[in-house]
Amino acid sequence: MSSEKDVVKYVIENKIAWVSYNRPEKRNCMSPKVNRRMMEILDELEYNDEVGVVVLTGEGEAFSAGMDLKEYFIETEKDGLAGTRKAQGEAYGWWKRLRNFYKPTIAMVNGWCFGGAYGPLFACDLAFTTKDAQFGLSEINWGILPGGGATKVVVESMNFRNAMYHAMTGENIDGVKAAEWGLVNEAHDADKLKERVAEVCNILLEKNPVALQATKEAVRKVSEMTYSNAEEYLVKAQEAANYFDNTGRKEGIKQFIYEKTYKPGLGAYNKDIKR
Ligand code: COA
Repeated sequence: MSSEKDVVKYVIENKIAWVSYNRPEKRNCMSPKVNRRMMEILDELEYNDEVGVVVLTGEGEAFSAGMDLKEYFIETEKDGLAGTRKAQGEAYGWWKRLRNFYKPTIAMVNGWCFGGAYGPLFACDLAFTTKDAQFGLSEINWGILPGGGATKVVVESMNFRNAMYHAMTGENIDGVKAAEWGLVNEAHDADKLKERVAEVCNILLEKNPVALQATKEAVRKVSEMTYSNAEEYLVKAQEAANYFDNTGRKEGIKQFIYEKTYKPGLGAYNKDIKR
């Protein structure tokens, strides 16, 4: 039996933290142990200076087969409502933490992705998958509604008809269709997936981290606002970002207007120049 720590693993390489569900024999389904360990790992990574981007993926042939039907549902129900609520709190807790994570996050969906796994999928800012990965809201197939936010994820990502079809039929879609429907950004051949994700990580690593954090937060927040509220929020959000780092913006302007060393329309300024 795997220890609490083994159920998730991570390695940090060149500022990228590759975090993997590590229960391939159980198709990386999410048990309370997994959920607790994920929260600890997010704690370990969020303000670690060695980390600029976090990638979430799975060992073996699955990204994650969703909630662990035995350990997450059956075994926690033995403690009544208290057990159920505790398990929900642990799962939803780290997904929320991931949605609000200080650094950019990417889901690298390498295979099966079901039900509850839509929570962390959506919590990641970007998502890339293999063409033949399978995505499904299988809940309807075993007699429940897509809970744990999964229904909200498809309504946020897909158009109404596709979301409804996906939730009601429990039919899987492959990575290509998941990209077409907006559940992920791109689908790639399996042998090219990691390379593409690393490339995107490196694009993000070139950006000003304070601006990047403010941007990812803004994209999530404004989707729930009227235009007018969003306009005001964005003014305040930029002012708050300036409080944390006002040099970035000045440096960006200086390198373009006076030094002519880059063009913002074609790439990022050099944030490593310190004056
Ligand atoms: N909860 C608990 N156990 C799970 C699981 C889950 N969500 N998904 C897989 N497993 C277990 C299986 O019971 C099996 O355990 P065993 O070796 O002790 O018998 C093991 O993981 C391997 O699964 P198996 O079904 O044999 O793998 P497969 O490659 O043939 O099929 C899936 C893969 C993902 C299609 C299939 O496992 C599946 O349908 N899982 C459930 C998906 C689901 O409905 N998730 C939604 C939960 S919200």
